[in-house]
Amino acid sequence: MEYQQFLKYFCLLVLCVYLFYLLFTNGYSDTLESLTISFIPSFNIVNSSTKNSLIINQGNNSIFELPSITNQFETRFFDYYPHLPIHIFTQNLSLIGNTSKLILLGNGFFGDRHWRLGPLNESSTEKMTALYCPFLSNHCDITTDYNRFSEADAIVYHMVDDFDQDLAKKKRHSKQRFVFTLWESPAHTRNLESFNQFFNWTMTYRFNSHIITSYYSQYGYIHKSSPFYRLMLNENSTRKLNWKIRKVDYRPSDEILQKKKLGIAAALISNCGAPSQRLPFIQELKRYIDVKVYGRCGESCPSNMDCREFIAENYYFLLSFENSLCLEYTTEKFFATLEYPVVPVVLGRTNYSHFIPPSGYIDTNQFSTMSSLARYLNQTRYDKEKYLSYFSWKKDYVWGLSQFFTPFCDLCLRLHLDSKPNIIGNIHKWWFDGSCQAGHVLP
Ligand SMILES: *[C@@H]1O[C@H](CO)[C@@H](O)[C@H](O)[C@H]1NC(C)=O
Ligand SMILES: *[C@@H]1O[C@H](CO)[C@@H](O)[C@H](O)[C@H]1NC(C)=O
Ligand SMILES: *[C@@H]1O[C@H](CO)[C@@H](O)[C@H](O)[C@H]1NC(C)=O
Ligand SMILES: *[C@@H]1O[C@H](CO)[C@@H](O)[C@H](O)[C@H]1NC(C)=O
Ligand SMILES: *[C@@H]1O[C@H](CO)[C@@H](O)[C@H](O)[C@H]1NC(C)=O
Ligand SMILES: *[C@@H]1O[C@H](CO)[C@@H](O)[C@H](O)[C@H]1NC(C)=O
Ligand SMILES: *[C@@H]1O[C@H](CO)[C@@H](O)[C@H](O)[C@H]1NC(C)=O
Ligand SMILES: *[C@@H]1O[C@H](CO)[C@@H](O)[C@H](O)[C@H]1NC(C)=O
Ligand SMILES: *[C@@H]1O[C@H](CO)[C@@H](O)[C@H](O)[C@H]1NC(C)=O
Repeated sequence: MEYQQFLKYFCLLVLCVYLFYLLFTNGYSDTLESLTISFIPSFNIVNSSTKNSLIINQGNNSIFELPSITNQFETRFFDYYPHLPIHIFTQNLSLIGNTSKLILLGNGFFGDRHWRLGPLNESSTEKMTALYCPFLSNHCDITTDYNRFSEADAIVYHMVDDFDQDLAKKKRHSKQRFVFTLWESPAHTRNLESFNQFFNWTMTYRFNSHIITSYYSQYGYIHKSSPFYRLMLNENSTRKLNWKIRKVDYRPSDEILQKKKLGIAAALISNCGAPSQRLPFIQELKRYIDVKVYGRCGESCPSNMDCREFIAENYYFLLSFENSLCLEYTTEKFFATLEYPVVPVVLGRTNYSHFIPPSGYIDTNQFSTMSSLARYLNQTRYDKEKYLSYFSWKKDYVWGLSQFFTPFCDLCLRLHLDSKPNIIGNIHKWWFDGSCQAGHVLP
């Protein structure tokens, strides 16, 4: 009898594990969200003046030194949004010799050995063009072929997926870069202590990473006067790439505004117990104004329509609230909103002005009480010119040349331009310490 019971539970367990696996290998971002467990260890941080620093220089044989990330961050894109050195393409490409670097994908990406980059048996020109950096066609190649380990200049590890660390240590040689890669927040990351002294570079959404992988890349918008945009137009015509860009409505018409009848604000949420406390926050906001929640934690959207699009059509504000309040963790919750005629209201531990001008969003951080936030939203909703002013920044931008993995272009460039050896001593500390805050609901 007992044996049968045991067997039953064992089978259930196996089934659960399998379902978990399926979920992880399918839709990744939203699925992950929905999987989040509410009893995540809390990181009660918080000293925002503490600088995360990770550079441990071992030697001094640089041939070309990139300005420090912070410097690029502050100066390079001063006039253009995003303010990030997301694309360091404006580097003088002539500084790159006629050599090619090899990037090896060292493990899977949510179980996909090809990282959703499609077949990697194509030419490097095809790969780099698909990543929107055809000008690097002769300068980098990407492979999943582990037999080419010793040739590789960089081996990229996605820290959600497993890999054989000992084997990697055994095979590595001192000129190679092991790259720590993540899109998840520390609230959903494994313990990293065994990876101290293992990595050379970081590739994450954090601004002080060696290569920045912001979710921006998937929904990227480009300033029309930026050197990067000029470069892209030039590439499009000289290489006959037939790239398509989209312009976005920067002054929604009366017709669009008149359709917004279902309420003032809505959110799309599928992880109901997130550490950012976004649901309790919304619950409190509801005491003052009309707010709806869609998704797994609320009502369902019409099935024939993208839920964000539905909210954008029917509401004035979209509450783009992150599931965790971790340093610079900003996801598609924000970026996917920007193409729609709706104003994002943000909750996250990020200065969103690095991504779009301050005139384009409303930050809950700037309000000290729930009633003042509610009052502001209500006033803006009834003040047509003020409401429309939230869209005017879009006039200067185009959408379309975006791809989740464009950061590989930056990795390629950095492999060429930064020869300084680097070891990340304590990756665990860098990733976790001071990163995440517990959510709090405005009084
Ligand atoms: C935060 O860190 C700075 C510099 O390390 C220190 O001067 C300051 O006292 C800290 N603040 C808190 C609240 O711990
Ligand atoms: C590194 O090399 C440069 C140029 O040779 C030199 O000016 C600099 O002082 C060196 N830095 C260190 C930390 O040794
Ligand atoms: C790029 O580098 C070349 C060679 O060093 C130089 O002649 C050229 O002026 C540089 N161009 C820019 C835009 O910096
Ligand atoms: C650079 O390398 C590519 C491919 O190996 C070759 O086609 C091209 O002619 C080379 N350019 C120069 C200037 O050597
Ligand atoms: C690459 O692999 C795919 C699937 O394995 C195959 O269909 C395709 O023909 C291959 N392409 C080239 C250029 O070898
Ligand atoms: C790229 O070139 C094609 C064909 O020349 C053109 O139709 C398209 O509008 C161009 N794309 C951009 C972004 O200019
Ligand atoms: C946010 O970033 C903007 C633009 O980089 C800067 O002007 C502003 O002072 C920053 N705000 C805070 C609160 O740090
Ligand atoms: C919202 O603003 C309108 C117009 O100013 C006002 O009539 C209404 O009472 C306000 N509602 C709330 C909940 O503050
Ligand atoms: C990368 O890190 C390893 C392990 O700490 C180190 O041995 C190697 O010299 C580093 N390589 C570079 C190019 O920084």
